[in-house]
Amino acid sequence: RSIIAIVPAAGIGSRMGADKPKQYLMLGHQSILAHTLDTLLAHPEITLVVVALHPQDNYFHQLPQSQHPRLTQVAGGGERADSVLAALDYAHTLNPDAWALVHDAARPCVTHDDITQLINAVDIHPQGAILAAPVRDTMKRSDANSHIVHTVDRALLWHALTPQFFPVSVLRQHLSAALAAKVSITDEASAMEWAGVMPGLVCGRIDNIKVTHPDDLQLAALFISQQ
Ligand code: CTP
Ligand code: MG
Repeated sequence: RSIIAIVPAAGIGSRMGADKPKQYLMLGHQSILAHTLDTLLAHPEITLVVVALHPQDNYFHQLPQSQHPRLTQVAGGGERADSVLAALDYAHTLNPDAWALVHDAARPCVTHDDITQLINAVDIHPQGAILAAPVRDTMKRSDANSHIVHTVDRALLWHALTPQFFPVSVLRQHLSAALAAKVSITDEASAMEWAGVMPGLVCGRIDNIKVTHPDDLQLAALFISQQ
């Protein structure tokens, strides 16, 4: 099995509100994206990393990883799903039989072991699977005025994380069809679900956070320092 990692890194980080896209902010001794790429490039099952960059990206070439022989860049698109699809198109030309391991640039705390767990899970989830974390809090559904309507059964609720792991050709087909149908797609699994596939859930570490708001920087730095 050939595994191509796909890293959407074309966002502008509007919620972070920094002076540059959040994936280029420093976390300890290197940037968020550099941490993410190091973990993926070090995994022996990943043969290639395709990173989707903003067409006007001025920072990527400064990363030490930018010249890595097993790393390629493509131009991303307007939404995360467009960026992933651009990278899938490229991966498909290389090897239509490969599997795509899609991982947010903004999740630098992912561990080698969680990636391995996800890859191995396709033995029991042959259509693909995602890392996810069981919800811990009591969950409420509200009306539009912030009044509780009822309590939702937590046992069946998960936080969807990345990586998400699917065959390149199947994911590319369903993602492009879902985008053409104007379906809201915030992760790869939602495109598969829309096409009637039921991806597997693999319990991952809850410290695999997506750096989104300024507060998340300190947390991510702490998690990385503990690895
Ligand atoms: N992403 C992308 N292409 C886009 C939008 C997002 O490749 N058009 C990437 C981001 O770079 C990030 C991942 O998708 O690694 C998750 O997206 P998100 O956390 O929403 O990042 P941003 O879109 O950059 O942040 P914001 O929504 O706050 O602007
Ligand atoms: Mg975004």
